Amino acid sequence: MREKIKEIFIQSRHQFVSGEEISKQLNISRTAVWKHIEELKKEGYQFEAIRKRGYRLLNDPDDISKERLKANLSTQWLGKEIIYFSEVDSTQRVAHELAKNGVPHGTVVITDEQTEGKGRLGRTWFSEKGKGIWMSFILRPSFAYHQALQITLFTSVVLANTLKKLYQRNFLIKWPNDIYINGKKVSGILTEMHGEQDQIHYMIIGIGINTHQITFPENLKEIATSIQQETGYIPKRIELIQHFFTEFEQDYSRFEGEGFMPFYKQYNDALYGKGRRIQLKQVNQQIEGTIMCIDSNGYLILQEDDGKEAKVVSGDIFF
Ligand code: BTN
Repeated sequence: MREKIKEIFIQSRHQFVSGEEISKQLNISRTAVWKHIEELKKEGYQFEAIRKRGYRLLNDPDDISKERLKANLSTQWLGKEIIYFSEVDSTQRVAHELAKNGVPHGTVVITDEQTEGKGRLGRTWFSEKGKGIWMSFILRPSFAYHQALQITLFTSVVLANTLKKLYQRNFLIKWPNDIYINGKKVSGILTEMHGEQDQIHYMIIGIGINTHQITFPENLKEIATSIQQETGYIPKRIELIQHFFTEFEQDYSRFEGEGFMPFYKQYNDALYGKGRRIQLKQVNQQIEGTIMCIDSNGYLILQEDDGKEAKVVSGDIFF
């Protein structure tokens, strides 16, 4: 019952909810509601209470403040510097500015809400307040340009692995870098870099993870989902971020030294849509074929209708 009450407050974050509404919705007495709220306070939930209006959630243990994120974070460089905003246009934009100003490798920009979240290919990214993880981090890699192109694929493997471990579900990767569960997108990755062919000045890895949404706007309903919607867990964002940072940092040293090779098998194991016929849209052309696998460079291998194999470097898959 307490989980259900938590859920009501999290879903109506920043609005007042009356004890009466909760008692009706859950079919329990007002006294029982009050007792649960007192217990939630002991767990670290903070409420504003106003007579006749009810309770408003001010702070819950899932708040992603800088202090909370840093507490017990055991990484050496990823997340050592954290810049937190309760609201910002785009963490990606802020990360670019900070990177130009010389902030260290591993600096993280994170927010509770984005008003102009950026997606791949000029799309927007829906980033509702308190319902997901919206963050960008800065890397100053020592490797060359071609390896930098594979970092998005590497990041997808690390993220899918982290999600699988935490929520024991089949999180898959839609090439090149969307995380899918039950046929819908739960997370997207946007990698941008600044530099020249032979020297990368910095890279920004932007990650959006839908954690708590239970509804989506009409245009996203059919294609997007959240961890909560698919798994029933109410994810703890801090726990998820810290696990991801730890995994990413550990695997990154291997990626730096050995490239994508040690990770491409894991990627293939998680590849979404294997054996399915797709259309692949590129800037100037469209290819049709069946998804076979990716190769150790991260290129997508399709089998075209005449049986020939096509190797694809970039594009957007449509089923
Ligand atoms: C995609 O199109 O799938 C990539 C989405 C990337 C969204 C994240 S949310 C945090 C960061 N800031 C942004 O403005 N975009 C990325």
